[in-house]
Amino acid sequence: QEGNMPSLAGRQIGDGGRKIRLGVAVVGSESSWRNANTESIKQAVEQEKQIELFMRNAEGSQQKQIEIIRGFIAQQVDVITFTPIVETGWDEVLQEAKQAGIPVLLSDRKVKVEDDSLWTTFIGSDFIEEGRRAARWLVEDTKASGKPVRIVELQGTPGSAPAIERKQGFEEVIAEHQAMLLVDSKIGDFTYDSGQGLMESILRQGIRPDAVFAHNDDMAFGAIKAIEAAGLRPGKDIRVISVDATKLAFQAMMAGKLNVSVECNPLLGPQITKAVKDLASGKELPVHIITEEGIFTQETAHRELTTRRY
Ligand code: AHR
Repeated sequence: QEGNMPSLAGRQIGDGGRKIRLGVAVVGSESSWRNANTESIKQAVEQEKQIELFMRNAEGSQQKQIEIIRGFIAQQVDVITFTPIVETGWDEVLQEAKQAGIPVLLSDRKVKVEDDSLWTTFIGSDFIEEGRRAARWLVEDTKASGKPVRIVELQGTPGSAPAIERKQGFEEVIAEHQAMLLVDSKIGDFTYDSGQGLMESILRQGIRPDAVFAHNDDMAFGAIKAIEAAGLRPGKDIRVISVDATKLAFQAMMAGKLNVSVECNPLLGPQITKAVKDLASGKELPVHIITEEGIFTQETAHRELTTRRY
């Protein structure tokens, strides 16, 4: 990454000085994953004597999130962290942060901007790989049957990095296998209600897929409800695949209703506070800090349930 990165060097903050003021603009409260993510940031900051947190919730609106970031700039915070609701539309406000000399950390979701020096570091998951993992599981699980596999996809928030990249990774893998047929792909918003509504309408249209790929657990839970309401057995008549691997997903796997959940770790708080402190002490941060993640199935769910933290 090139360009003049804003730096905290020379400001009397952190060790021996005043507290580092951190402005955090979270996306909203659309899923249990998001709530765990917000809580993780709050808890990590609470354990830090050096950081003072200013956290605001954009409630799913990009316009509101931009206003929150402008507020942080006016307030002259030292560092801004935000989870961009969608990928595009951030050039102007990030330019304003750069002009004010405030470094920006992207947490969980990436942006697409003309000038990548407008942000310092991305902390989060590899969403493309998550999509690939979901598809690879399905290919493995169905290959013995030798039959075509009719798949429907329930997408997350349009324009968001996880929806774009999970779709990309999933489709990249299924494209290599003739038996894998994506028969429908509908746009939701990472909520339970959208998963339920979309699945209901798919089944009402007479589409009876072999598998559903939901872009997150909450949408998968909504889809499970719709499948049951249609008199079918989720996890058996229709395979259900999701992303996040929350505690509730483990319970659904143990109940045999969810087949697999690809992990996406929301507990980013400690990595964020570490990055903030590193910035304050003048250390150079890596451009990407990517979380290591796994994949969990009905066979492995019981081993993990008790230790699951979100
Ligand atoms: O950006 C991460 C995604 O957003 C999670 O998969 C989803 O549950 C959340 O709402």
